[in-house]
Formats: sequence, structure tokens, C-alpha cells
Amino acid sequence: MNIQAPPQIDPAFRADVLAGFRMKRRAIPARWFYDFRGSELFEQITGLPEYYPTRVETELLARHAADVANIVGSGRAVVEFGSGSSTKTPYVLDAVQPAAYVPIDISGDFLRESAAALASDFPKLSILPVEADFTHPIVPPAEIASLPKLGFFPGSTIGNMVARTAVNLLRAMVETLGVGAMLLIGMDRIKAVETLKRAYDDAEGVTAAFNLNLLHRINRELHADIPVDAFRHRAIWNDAYARIEMHLEAVRDVTFTVAGERFSMRAGETIHTENSHKYGPRDARLLLRAGAWTPIAEWTDPDDQFALILAEAQPSGMAP
Ligand code: AVJ
Repeated sequence: MNIQAPPQIDPAFRADVLAGFRMKRRAIPARWFYDFRGSELFEQITGLPEYYPTRVETELLARHAADVANIVGSGRAVVEFGSGSSTKTPYVLDAVQPAAYVPIDISGDFLRESAAALASDFPKLSILPVEADFTHPIVPPAEIASLPKLGFFPGSTIGNMVARTAVNLLRAMVETLGVGAMLLIGMDRIKAVETLKRAYDDAEGVTAAFNLNLLHRINRELHADIPVDAFRHRAIWNDAYARIEMHLEAVRDVTFTVAGERFSMRAGETIHTENSHKYGPRDARLLLRAGAWTPIAEWTDPDDQFALILAEAQPSGMAP
């Protein structure tokens, strides 16, 4: 007998898409970009000439990981949030000589793959992957309970969050990492609008494909019939919020069905799919303080395109 299981619908994905399409300003959370194809396209984005963040942050880590180590010392447990493919991690591990490495990611497949790759490069390192949603406090593995922690949150992932969500996340990280913890975080800077728009609307159209893949994913996974050719990728700078927004804009009037529910859009209407907030030097430090972290050192490239910031957990109840 050969019984093929029907494709499994992720109830959280369905709920987010349906709720997002019912709103007057349609929006879908950016985390749904990252199915297998979306993760592949994002990897491709990181190699684009226009997409400076990955390149600049990697250079900063290569140049300054030793400076980080001078401050944090060795023997900490390094806890990486949203480790993904972990390409930047070796610079940190080489420099800070941790007692353990704890990658946390919501995608178990990616987590195990990158943990295995790191294990062959760092055979003596204790690697303890945790499959979890790091936006809530996590109880770290018992093996690192008594070790001081260094959180690592690269990639300007914090930029995907509005201020309130970012602050909640930073506070959850304090809870997860405990007293005496430090955090090394990457944040993208505010810069010339043209540079930003090019980074999110590249000449090859890889970012457009990344954005449009969300519609393909909805069609595949939620029994939908969205005509993807009726949409185009838009990247706009929202100056009031200091963020790049990605949208999918209907180029003609369209009607489609998702999980049995009908939706219509007029030409020119959009689905808001991502925010990528950018931070000036003081903005970045204020956000960290609001999230219960005190910035103690920072490193940027000569053009101040991207910042690596080292912060320490604020002791609770400290005044004034
Ligand atoms: C992975 C959230 C850092 O906002 O720059 C890249 C995602 N979106 N191109 C970013 C992304 C479009 C990226 N982050």
C-alpha cells in the first residue's frame, strides 16, 4: 500500500495570510519569506553587488572580532539568535574561544545543517543547537547554565521589527542570557536613499523574485490561485519610520481565492511584506537601552554603512 499524506497546511501561516489579506492595509509578516526557495533566494541576495549589508558586516567581523574578544574575554557560551546558515559565526568563535556554542533557530533543518558544518571546523567545541522561537525567553541547555553568555545577533535582523517588537525581543534576550551577559548585534545604518533602494531592488531582480516567492508559497501551501504575474515588486523608503518597505503591488484589478476565501485588489493596491529599519548611531544606542542593554563599544566601516555594537545586560532595578 502506498498512502501519500496530503500536503500539511501550517495553521500559523494560513492564519497570518488570511488576517493580512482581510486588513485594509494588507500585510504579511516577513518571516514567511523563508521557505526552502525563499532561503535560497536570500542566500543569493547576500552575494549581490547592490546588497552591501552582508559584505560589510562580514568585513567588520573579520577586522574586529579580536577587539570584541579583548572586551568579553574567553570561555563564555556564545548564543546565536536566528543562526540560519551561520556564515559569520566562525569569526566570532575563532576570536572569543567559547566554552560552548548554542545556535537558536526556528528552522530545525537549517539549524542541524549549519551545526554539522561548524562541528567539522571546530571539532573540539561543544555545539548545542536549540530549535526554538527566540522572540520569547528560552531556557538554555543545562550545560551552559553556569557560564557567562555572549549573545550574537548579526544580519540586522532586528531591522525587520518595529520598535515595540524589537524592544520586546531585546528584553527577552536579557531573560534568556541572564545577569552579566553581553550581546554583539549588527545594525544597518541610515544612508543615501538611492543606495538603500538599490539594495532592495537589484538589477538582476533577485530581490523581486524573493518578494514574489511569497505569493508562489501561498499558492503552493494554502490552496490559493493568486495570479503572480499580476504583481510587481516595490521597494520604497519610508522616511518617517527610517525604513525600507517591500510591497507587492497589483498591476491590474485582481480577484483570487486563498483557503476558500475570496479577495479582490484594485490596480495600484499593495501587500506590505517587509520592513527593514535603519538606525543612526544614537538611534541604535537608544533602541538597545530601551531593550535593557547598555552599549559599551561599536565598530563601523569607514563609510558608516553598517554597525557592530557590543552591549551588556543592564542590571535590573538600576537607577537613575
Ligand atoms: C535578513 C532581514 C536582514 O532586511 O536586509 C534582504 C532581508 N529583504 N533583502 C534585510 C532582506 C530583502 C534582510 N534581513
